[in-house]
Amino acid sequence: MKLNILFSPIVADELYFTGKTTVVIDVLRASSTIVTALKNDAKEIVPVATIEFAVKVSGGMFGGQTLLGGERNTKKIEGFALGNSPLEYEEKIVSGKSIVFYTTNGTKALVKAKFSENLLVCSFLNLSIVAKHLVSLNNNVEIICAGRNNFFSLEDTVCAGKLAAEIISLEPEVELNDSVAAALALNEKYGNDLLAMLKQSDHGKLLAENGFEEDINYCSQLNVVNVIPYYFNGVIKTMKPE
Ligand code: MLT
Repeated sequence: MKLNILFSPIVADELYFTGKTTVVIDVLRASSTIVTALKNDAKEIVPVATIEFAVKVSGGMFGGQTLLGGERNTKKIEGFALGNSPLEYEEKIVSGKSIVFYTTNGTKALVKAKFSENLLVCSFLNLSIVAKHLVSLNNNVEIICAGRNNFFSLEDTVCAGKLAAEIISLEPEVELNDSVAAALALNEKYGNDLLAMLKQSDHGKLLAENGFEEDINYCSQLNVVNVIPYYFNGVIKTMKPE
């Protein structure tokens, strides 16, 4: 089993992912929101790469069972029912619903990786169960850090390093490369106090400036949700752990 980490989705094109096992990480906040919505019994998440497509897709779906969610510049988009705060995705709001979801970086990375054979979503919230599932698949793994506007992000890389460390603890024979060594080193440096790391990250500072401190606290929790979000045929659903 080999691991590789892409520090930004821009370094690969869609075809690169064909037939691969891929994990998308966008700690602040898209992957944390997807994990939370599925934990709270959303039927499915439909990730889209543009706002226009989100509106078009939701128009063709079954009225009251569909919600539009996501953000532009961290804020809820006009006409959308939900923003990108995981705390908004409460059970009473999302249970049974299909959520058409657009975010600046996270959903674009997911759509880019859509030709993967296995495509999973990871955050700190569900890291351990995703690691276990990846080890059980026993395939080579590509980990995409969604980053910010195609640039590097600290929190996604620390999460990738922590995921790699967890995989290695379960499967010591894993083959590592420079990208994994770098992410493991950042996880060693920052990974013991996730909240402090998130607060000092560029994206954490931006979210705090926009009043989303609670989201930062929430997204810093490690292994509190046993959900494996799994993309298949254009939608993300919960894969039930064995
Ligand atoms: C994204 O996908 O860019 C993020 O989730 C942005 C955000 O924090 O809302």
